[in-house]
Amino acid sequence: MTRVLLTGGAGYIGSHTAVALCQSGFEPVLLDDFSNSVPAVLDRLARITGRAFPCEHGDAADVSFVRQVIERHAIEAVVHFAGFKAVGESVAEPLKYFRNNVGSALGVLDAMRETSCRALVFSSTATVYGDPDRVPVNESAPRRYENPYAQTKGMVEDILAATARSDPSWCFGVLRYFNPVGAHPSGLIGEDPHGTPNNLMPYISQVAIGRRPALQIFGGDYATPDGTGVRDYIHVSDLAAGHVAALRHLLERREGLIVNLGSGQGHSVLEVLRAYERACGHAIAHQLAPRRPGDVACYYADPGLAHSLLGWRAQRTLDEMCADAWRWQSGNPNGYHGG
Ligand code: UFG
Repeated sequence: MTRVLLTGGAGYIGSHTAVALCQSGFEPVLLDDFSNSVPAVLDRLARITGRAFPCEHGDAADVSFVRQVIERHAIEAVVHFAGFKAVGESVAEPLKYFRNNVGSALGVLDAMRETSCRALVFSSTATVYGDPDRVPVNESAPRRYENPYAQTKGMVEDILAATARSDPSWCFGVLRYFNPVGAHPSGLIGEDPHGTPNNLMPYISQVAIGRRPALQIFGGDYATPDGTGVRDYIHVSDLAAGHVAALRHLLERREGLIVNLGSGQGHSVLEVLRAYERACGHAIAHQLAPRRPGDVACYYADPGLAHSLLGWRAQRTLDEMCADAWRWQSGNPNGYHGG
């Protein structure tokens, strides 16, 4: 069985991808520093899959640590999730973002260079497109960085491209995620943000469960059908399946790729709110608030390349995303912290 190292494997997307990889015949090995995740996820993963995944506690930027992990577990490919992801924090503390997000990618690549492991899938983001000229946005749209977080992802994309040019034995899969939401249908793993959630779905979840009084809708005067922002929400299990497809492509064809992972459909904040109300069965308090600085009105993916290249397509609807998010939230009102 192919052993795959998941840096940031205990996190939200990493943990769902570990399940998908395991169920597709891969052997996941997790590496995490638990700066934005908790070891409790490991027990949940074992309950879902019936297997205990090895997990190495440490920093992806530490070259000798990562090299030892790759060698000890005979790793054949890496999925590099580890990174900070709060847009606002990246504006306030850019050095923290450049150091961590670029540093961890360099650490993993240098470690791989010292071994024979040459295939890596990278968690990038649709935020690299900034405010796109047209939607749906495809992979050839120009990258425009509106904040340091987006810039760190774009920089790592460029580092991967230069590395691939330097030596054709490397192969890299860059996955540009749109807006991942939802949770594993078991309700055992899901998104568990520290502090106040930055993102829409976890915020709605915490209002729905009674941890917060009301959702603030950031802007009701955008040029969209109902005036609220439109995004491409993708179920995290669909996103996880996209990683499996990308990894297979890299390992079988040994050729790199850059693809969008999105559903291809845009949904407004109000549509998400209404879908969540259907899922949880009660009204969710909300109020209109000013626009959030840096937000754009509308974007959603052209997911055609992922389909033609990888045979992958998002399957799950917005109602399923909300139902699974609610199952996770209502079964774990305080996330992994019990209660
Ligand atoms: N929104 C609200 N209220 C909230 C939170 C969000 O109205 O409390 C709105 C936003 O204004 C936006 C939509 O909900 O219109 C989605 O916002 P999110 O913060 O959930 O997601 P973003 O599209 O801003 O960005 C997210 C992540 C990035 C990631 C990007 C990928 O924050 O890290 O998706 O497209 F890169």
